[in-house]
Amino acid sequence: MHKKEQEYFEIIENIFKLVKAEENLGETANYIPELAKVNGEKFGVSLLFLDGLQFGFGDCDEKFSIQSISKVLLLALVYSEIGEEIWKRVDVEPSGTPFNSLLQLESDKGIPRNPFINAGALVICDILIDRCKNPKQHFLDFMKKVSGNSTIQFSERIAENELATGFRNAALTNFIKSLGNINNSPEEVLDLYTHICSIELSCKELCTTFTFLANGGKNLFDNKQILSTSQTKRVNAIMQTCGFYDESGEFAFRVGLPGKSGVGGGIVAVMPKHYVVSVWSPKLNPKGNSYRGMKFLEEFTTATEDSIF
Ligand code: DON
Repeated sequence: MHKKEQEYFEIIENIFKLVKAEENLGETANYIPELAKVNGEKFGVSLLFLDGLQFGFGDCDEKFSIQSISKVLLLALVYSEIGEEIWKRVDVEPSGTPFNSLLQLESDKGIPRNPFINAGALVICDILIDRCKNPKQHFLDFMKKVSGNSTIQFSERIAENELATGFRNAALTNFIKSLGNINNSPEEVLDLYTHICSIELSCKELCTTFTFLANGGKNLFDNKQILSTSQTKRVNAIMQTCGFYDESGEFAFRVGLPGKSGVGGGIVAVMPKHYVVSVWSPKLNPKGNSYRGMKFLEEFTTATEDSIF
């Protein structure tokens, strides 16, 4: 291990212990029963440097539901295939609203503010359905390509559970369809969307899966170009401005790295050209982002003085 990497190891170890010793506030996501059941005391972190060195602490090898973090991978897949056309269907502006809000859609004529709110990801699912015979398999193949892990599968248990209770996403899909920005049946769109959200990865696997976004669009393990450098910049820019919904400004302000959260309690963030860092702690703050995850990353970039700014 290089001196710098040794320093990071010690910083992360200390902050992990510090955050773990503090009171763990928040609640696990309660609107998806399968997520509400998860032990709120789970806590894992991992960091992967682009030279291949990786370390992890706590529950860093345990798989959890990555939920909305998948929206970045969905965007990367469709963006890599249709390029700038995608922005005719979804915008790139922060919404300043919760992830499942219906509010702006009517005045925005069915064009979601960005790909990371539910409305935006539902529209991108619709594009994927239009483009391929088996969109679920196509997404899984992409997941396998970016993670280097051929065993990745959907969690049917979580997908079914969310489908049975996802009345708000059903409302969003029907509303966007009524405004003309969804072509396929709401059932098909919701089925694909809930499957994409159901993927389970550990903190360590999450880091590996996101390395292409820290590495100019290229996988680390096989050098496959997933996105161009310009596309990579754009996806990272949207993570920076929209990755935490109405807490995106706060995350940029406190942490200073592009990142994405999910209601399973995971957060992944990238320091372009250097590393990917991930955290999992299932209790969420009132904005739906991991309480300890936010805390850990804030302390981490404060100690390392890293930021993209
Ligand atoms: O659509 C939903 O409600 C979930 N499948 C995903 C939401 C989510 O992860 C938002 N992230 N913070």
